[in-house]
Amino acid sequence: MARNLITVFLSLHMCFQLPTLKALVQEEEWDYLVLAQFWPSSSCVYFKESDCVPPQVHNWTIHGLWPSDRATSKQPENCNKSMNFNYDEIKPLRPDLDLYWPYFNKSSKDRTSLWAHEWDKHGTCAYSLPTLRGEFVYFTQVLKLYHQQDLIGALAKANIVPSDSKQYNINDIFNAVNSIYGTSPVISCVTDTKEHYLAEIWLCFEKNLTRADCEESAQYHVASDQHRAERRPYLKFRSEKEQVVTKGKKFVDCPSDLVWYKPITTIYL
Ligand SMILES: *[C@@H]1O[C@H](CO)[C@@H](O)[C@H](O)[C@H]1NC(C)=O
Ligand SMILES: *[C@@H]1O[C@H](CO)[C@@H](O)[C@H](O)[C@H]1NC(C)=O
Ligand SMILES: *[C@@H]1O[C@H](CO)[C@@H](O)[C@H](O)[C@H]1NC(C)=O
Ligand SMILES: *[C@@H]1O[C@H](CO)[C@@H](O)[C@H](O)[C@H]1NC(C)=O
Repeated sequence: MARNLITVFLSLHMCFQLPTLKALVQEEEWDYLVLAQFWPSSSCVYFKESDCVPPQVHNWTIHGLWPSDRATSKQPENCNKSMNFNYDEIKPLRPDLDLYWPYFNKSSKDRTSLWAHEWDKHGTCAYSLPTLRGEFVYFTQVLKLYHQQDLIGALAKANIVPSDSKQYNINDIFNAVNSIYGTSPVISCVTDTKEHYLAEIWLCFEKNLTRADCEESAQYHVASDQHRAERRPYLKFRSEKEQVVTKGKKFVDCPSDLVWYKPITTIYL
């Protein structure tokens, strides 16, 4: 009798244990990295600010480096709560972070909140890779990888330069980046009530940091359209025609033709 009870107890225990262990392992599964960069003046459109670019920022800036999984087209998130963001660890990097990894939300008083978000959500998921393990190491490596890219230069080689008067075809932007790096990016746009702006370019890397094609199915945070509309109310203004390329693929929230790539002229303190 006693032995049977123990057996029952053990089986129940196993039942509850196994799925937990499995879930933990699955959550950490990833096989490539997405380096996402913002075009600052388009970020102001996103935040509905006319001027949101900090001084000294004249270039593409870092959004984040995201462990991602080809098989599931997903990104693991918030992988280890016991590793929550600790500003003191990256304090020595502050001057570089302000320049190359700024947060454009003017109504947020906390300049560290993008870093906290990126670390908690994505950085903690890169733990399995020694070259990205730990907060200081992760931020240092992301800055290093960012400096090895030069999107403004890559686009300029195809005569795609920031302009207040000329719009660019989204396919030309894709082809320019694709031909310079030899791998396909994912490009995303923001849209106000009528205009479209080049918002982000994602470049992808293997775990050893050699270049990789971005997965065309990569979805922006794998969010549903409903969730995206809530996060970005202006999406509600899009017409059906403008949504042609919305479903992940090479473009996210981009129109099929022309977008603005406006100069960074605005400054706030
Ligand atoms: C989570 O983080 C803690 C503290 O850094 C570490 O000791 C532990 O090994 C991590 N767990 C996993 C599953 O990565
Ligand atoms: C900007 O920051 C404010 C204050 O923290 C926050 O309430 C708001 O949601 C942020 N905006 C976006 C679009 O994330
Ligand atoms: C923009 O940043 C990249 C990466 O650090 C760098 O190679 C490039 O020279 C910068 N261009 C300008 C115009 O600041
Ligand atoms: C980097 O990783 C990829 C994918 O695993 C592999 O094909 C490639 O040979 C590796 N390159 C180097 C230099 O290790």
